[in-house]
Amino acid sequence: MTTPELSNVHPAWLAPAALRALGSRRVLVCGEGPLVETVADEVERACARFGGTAIRRLAPSAGGEADADLVLTLTATDRGLGDEGFELARVGGASVVRADRPAGLLYGFFEILRLGGAPAFTDALPVGAQRPALGRRMADHWDNVAVHPVMGQVERGYAGGSIFWRDGRLREDLSRVGAYARLLAACGINAVAVNNVNVHQAEAHLLTDRLDDVRKLAELFRPYGIRVHLSVNFAAPLSLGALPTADPLDPAVRAWWAETTEQVYALIPDFGGYLVKADSEGQPGPFAYGRTHAEGANMLADALAPFGGVVHWRAFVYNHRQDWRDRSTDRARAAHDHFAPLDGAFRDNAILQVKHGPMDFQTREPVSPVIAAMPRTRLAVEVQATQEYTGQQRHVCYLAPQWSEVLGFRPWGEAGASVADVARGQSRDGYPDGDGGGLVVVSNVGDDRFWTGHPLAQANLYAFGRLAWNPAAEPAAILDEWIGLTFPGDGEDDPDPAGPARLRAALHAMMDESWQTYENYTAPLGVGFMVRPNHHYGPDVDGYEYTPWGTYHFADREGIGVDRTSATGTGFASQYPKPWSEVYEALDQCPDELLLFFHHVSYGHRLHSGESVVQHIYDTHFAGAEQAHAIREHWHAVADLDLVPADLRERVDERLDEQVRCAEEWRDQINAYFYRKSGVPDAHRRIIH
Ligand code: GCU
Repeated sequence: MTTPELSNVHPAWLAPAALRALGSRRVLVCGEGPLVETVADEVERACARFGGTAIRRLAPSAGGEADADLVLTLTATDRGLGDEGFELARVGGASVVRADRPAGLLYGFFEILRLGGAPAFTDALPVGAQRPALGRRMADHWDNVAVHPVMGQVERGYAGGSIFWRDGRLREDLSRVGAYARLLAACGINAVAVNNVNVHQAEAHLLTDRLDDVRKLAELFRPYGIRVHLSVNFAAPLSLGALPTADPLDPAVRAWWAETTEQVYALIPDFGGYLVKADSEGQPGPFAYGRTHAEGANMLADALAPFGGVVHWRAFVYNHRQDWRDRSTDRARAAHDHFAPLDGAFRDNAILQVKHGPMDFQTREPVSPVIAAMPRTRLAVEVQATQEYTGQQRHVCYLAPQWSEVLGFRPWGEAGASVADVARGQSRDGYPDGDGGGLVVVSNVGDDRFWTGHPLAQANLYAFGRLAWNPAAEPAAILDEWIGLTFPGDGEDDPDPAGPARLRAALHAMMDESWQTYENYTAPLGVGFMVRPNHHYGPDVDGYEYTPWGTYHFADREGIGVDRTSATGTGFASQYPKPWSEVYEALDQCPDELLLFFHHVSYGHRLHSGESVVQHIYDTHFAGAEQAHAIREHWHAVADLDLVPADLRERVDERLDEQVRCAEEWRDQINAYFYRKSGVPDAHRRIIH
């Protein structure tokens, strides 16, 4: 199956050795349907490679026949496993994967791969049913069809060009997309948006005269249970339909969307739906016609409804031309101000897609208050694997701990629902559990041979899929799973049997707390945005301070932080329900890590930790840079092991050097800046100025 396009591509978490345990056995695949064929093909290929026997039967099996070591079968009668669930069992010395529907069988197959040798084929098999907690597990690509003069081929992409598009066209060799679909299914992702939310003219045409490109992509994703979605431009009726307006209440506009959508489904019957960024950062939207965002979203929802499609409507709406001298406007408030009043006004097939924080994928933000404000709306939560503000895939920054924290956050207090529950749809009256908007990730993948630029950044995409399947999963356990699959070693053939374990321990030590490390050496205490403008890499404390983007820290000689309290600030804190509104409003209750997000305080202000704000800044920045060194040392300490391909080692070496350099740059700029602003010396006299 290796095409020239694929020959040089890293297998990521589907390393051939991970297939060995299955491929050397007798494996029976039973059932009918396209996704069952996918499983059968996978089994056949693995068996051909590792000497096993693949047996195929169309009728369901009860398990335990044909001397099979493993039976993968659709059930004869429904066992309540749902569309994507599966069940593992041991029957007469064989392992059995049962699923009511083909997608469940596919996920069961990948579970067996994950378990590897002994656990999958012995009584150590973890028997029982598994179902995804979230029905929608989506990857959004910010890929441009044509190279954008400023943003390039992939907006905020740090892994080369697009795997779909090149120079304004669909790529000719799409074998890479098939390999990608397989990787996504293997971590549980079931939806993909194939173009940037900023829909420029070249991309807009995908909806109409370039639709065949989308069909070709859908054909590659379909065998892996993944539906394709398209970002569309709200003004398409003007630019593509030659109508005089895009007003969502105009009958001609509505008819244009209905007809256009019908044509989409005629070509791609399982098309997932539309993704829309409207009235945001220059994108057109319903405000131009005096309409609400519910009216805009509902128009598209109505066009999609007859075909079972959904519209993902983004809540990332704010004024990016604000007056930085005016302290009363607050970008953090914007999504809640715009959308909370619209709760209950959206159609059932409209999903409001909310960034996890109120600002923009910063290293540390509170959870967006919109998530708790719209109990009658289907909400999806959006996170960012592409590391725009978290080291741009030059720094190791394993983000699952951040996402896990977001998903576990309980906006109504300990007794209430969590963010994961909201994304699942558990809190909505009258709708089945699991029908929520789900979880969305901005993909970190490009045409780089390691997929993600930094090879270790693959872990973020993998972890996203696993958390969307089970938001309660432990990030550290997911990390170990990813490490085991990606760096499986040679098993019994390893010359140094302790080697793989040493390598895995080193990778774990490098990655497990790398988000915390990144936070330590960058923007302190939740303040965010101290990055260089435009590209967002490296430190620039005042880079955004006097700009119209709404991203300020308000540092002066007395203190720092944004007053978002109701009494004296922007009132953002009151957008949360109790208890969090009270916690965030109160200086003495606000968690240290979010202090500067909610309060403007003096440099001498004492944190709960007992440290002063400015000393905390110094200490964390010295510690963070040291931790970056330690990450590199862990890697160097396993340099003697011959377990990592030379090109991967080289790439990681080069990125770690850059991480260390950049962490020191951050440390020195941040510390010098706050020393000069505050005049408060470092208690340990480390600052060079
Ligand atoms: C950020 C990012 C943009 C992106 C936007 C979005 O602002 O810098 O490149 O378009 O988020 O999420 O729409």
